[in-house]
Amino acid sequence: MKKIVLVLLQAFLQSICCTSLRFIKPNVVSLEVSTLSLSAEVSLQCGEQYESEQIHWQRNGMIIPETGNGISIAVEGLRGGNFTCHNANGDFLNYTLLLVHPITLPNAVLLAQSTDKDFISCTARNYSGHFHCSWKWDPRRTQRAVVHFSAVRKQSPINCNLDSDSNGLSCSDADFCPYSEEALSIKLRVLVRNIFRLEEHQLSFFLQDIVRPDKVKVMKKEENVFEWLPPETWSFPCSFFPLAYQIKVLPKNSDCDRTGNRVKQIETNETQYEVNVQKPYTLCVRAQDPLTKNAWSDWSRHHQL
Ligand SMILES: *[C@@H]1O[C@H](CO)[C@@H](O)[C@H](O)[C@H]1NC(C)=O
Ligand SMILES: *[C@@H]1O[C@H](CO)[C@@H](O)[C@H](O)[C@H]1NC(C)=O
Ligand SMILES: *[C@@H]1O[C@H](CO)[C@@H](O)[C@H](O)[C@H]1NC(C)=O
Ligand SMILES: *[C@@H]1O[C@H](CO)[C@@H](O)[C@H](O)[C@H]1NC(C)=O
Repeated sequence: MKKIVLVLLQAFLQSICCTSLRFIKPNVVSLEVSTLSLSAEVSLQCGEQYESEQIHWQRNGMIIPETGNGISIAVEGLRGGNFTCHNANGDFLNYTLLLVHPITLPNAVLLAQSTDKDFISCTARNYSGHFHCSWKWDPRRTQRAVVHFSAVRKQSPINCNLDSDSNGLSCSDADFCPYSEEALSIKLRVLVRNIFRLEEHQLSFFLQDIVRPDKVKVMKKEENVFEWLPPETWSFPCSFFPLAYQIKVLPKNSDCDRTGNRVKQIETNETQYEVNVQKPYTLCVRAQDPLTKNAWSDWSRHHQL
């Protein structure tokens, strides 16, 4: 009985020959698999114009027995590969990078989760339409690469460039208008791989929600009087892009995040503050967009001895 089931199962698996491949970009395809234990047959083609030629194939530089313009090969587990096709003289003609994308495994393994549980985090320093997204690789993945990325708002693509270290994207939404309501979110998609394993990450956000001012530069004007300007990277004019500030006066050498009854905290729209303390102290200042009340900037700290 078991044997019959096995034979039937094998016949069934063979009958669904050639699982379809997902096109990622020219010369790169992925096999979407729901379990890593099954083997799948996929078909590859060298190219239509090579139909009449004698074609030989290599998998990661090693000759394989399959020949002809179109071949069918078995993919087991995560064993994708870089398949190159060659003519009778051995000349290189074309290639297909075949990646394996486990779609049902719950956890991402190529990128590391950041503190806010996302794999990709995006920020902007102002309302110019420029923003930056970054991610961290799991340090165990050493043969990693970014395969593909895209950012779109509705159907309009947003221009992005991959950072030279492959750890982020610098994007610019030329159509972004800071003076009107942002009705549609930006959808970001990043496809990464390690060896032949593919992983897909997506993030959707509004630009206005990721704006976070840079640190303010605090200057000492006179004894116990400090002043600062909006960060140089903040949007101007100030009347359209106001900033609110939080000021803390703490015991000397304190961390700016310290709380408690020895901490004096003030909210203000002014860019100047006079400290009313005789003992040594630490002054901390940070900025926030008062209209969106999104993230605060990092603290700027000044020690007064
Ligand atoms: C090379 O192979 C790719 C598939 O990976 C195919 O889309 C493309 O048309 C081929 N190029 C030529 C010149 O045949
Ligand atoms: C796959 O092989 C082609 C042809 O040799 C090469 O251009 C490409 O960089 C290779 N890709 C990878 C990921 O190894
Ligand atoms: C606006 O912020 C981007 C980064 O988010 C930065 O590259 C650009 O220089 C800033 N604009 C100004 C005027 O500083
Ligand atoms: C700062 O300005 C905003 C609007 O301009 C106002 O709503 C807010 O009350 C002001 N905050 C303080 C602490 O003065």
